[in-house]
Amino acid sequence: MSGLAAPAALNALLTDPGVTDVLVNGPDAVWVDGAGGMRRLALHLGDAAAIRALAQRLAAQAGRRLDDASPTVDARLPGGVRMHAVVPPVAPAGPLISFRVFRREGMSLRDLETSGMVGQPGVELLRALVAARANFLISGGTGVGKTTLLSALVSEVPASERLVVIEEAQEIITSHPHCVRLEARGANAEGRGLVGLTDLVRESLRMRPDRIVLGECRGPEVREVLTALNTGHDGSAATIHANSCHDVPARLTALGSLADMGSRTVAVQAAAALSGVVHLVRQPGGQRIVQSIAILGLSGSELVATPAVNFRAGEARRGPGWELFNHRLARC
Ligand SMILES: Nc1ncnc2c1ncn2[C@@H]1O[C@H](COP(=O)(O)OP(=O)(O)OP(=O)(O)O)[C@@H](O)[C@H]1O
Ligand SMILES: [Mg+2]
Repeated sequence: MSGLAAPAALNALLTDPGVTDVLVNGPDAVWVDGAGGMRRLALHLGDAAAIRALAQRLAAQAGRRLDDASPTVDARLPGGVRMHAVVPPVAPAGPLISFRVFRREGMSLRDLETSGMVGQPGVELLRALVAARANFLISGGTGVGKTTLLSALVSEVPASERLVVIEEAQEIITSHPHCVRLEARGANAEGRGLVGLTDLVRESLRMRPDRIVLGECRGPEVREVLTALNTGHDGSAATIHANSCHDVPARLTALGSLADMGSRTVAVQAAAALSGVVHLVRQPGGQRIVQSIAILGLSGSELVATPAVNFRAGEARRGPGWELFNHRLARC
């Protein structure tokens, strides 16, 4: 049992190890995502009022509210489930609930290899990235396994190093013995008390970190992150949303502009600070794989990603960025 105040059929889905997401679009429209990709279930969770009540009950279980005044909620439920819910009028067709299920015990790099996400050559390169204390990003679209891979790599960090993990909501699961955590806090109803990722990155620098791990770089905190990485905080990592490794420079530039950074500044800082970008994709059948490792560099004044290694069927093929990537790892 998950211990959630939810109908038994939903609890069963949320504790099924093969399920990664449960999406409630309406009374007769429940979808699940898992090993075989997305599929619709013949599951009835009651009418719209029952779904709204369910979302409110679960939000309350996580100490959050969901009502007309606060029609959206992002909550961490007991048992490692993240729930996002939105109710009318913001969801005009009726309440929508999205559940993301995390494996309670996390997945090691070995588990990810067994799952087919990465082959032996990839495992070796990822271990080398961690061992060299390289700064890197894990990129990919939504739900491709970025946080899961970051967790596995965090667990590979030597026990003698101190990690500060910064997240919007706790998702990184690690067996690392010296890992302290900071979690962002939203503003209260009066608009006060906000402690955002930017603040937390700044705080983390005073906490004697050997490595800083940012769950997801998604806003103006990119400025603090790039500054930290350029001032001696090696071995740090973050995830970032991007549909291909070639889109990472534009994403970093867009995030930088939120912090009033010009594209040239972002380009110079990112090229100097980051040794690599590990890009994940999801294949049509639902399999999550490490597709490539790319380097970031300058082409004129523009930031560009160049593949150093492409993975196909677990095999590694060197790309045009290989020599530089190898050189950077050796220099780290
Ligand atoms: N190699 C794998 N084998 C099986 N399940 C996996 C694997 N990698 C990730 N998952 C599962 O897929 C789901 C999505 O993974 P994760 O949260 O790491 O993705 P993400 O890219 O960080 O998502 P988001 O875009 O929401 O941040 C989770 O339920 C996770 O447990
Ligand atoms: Mg994630």
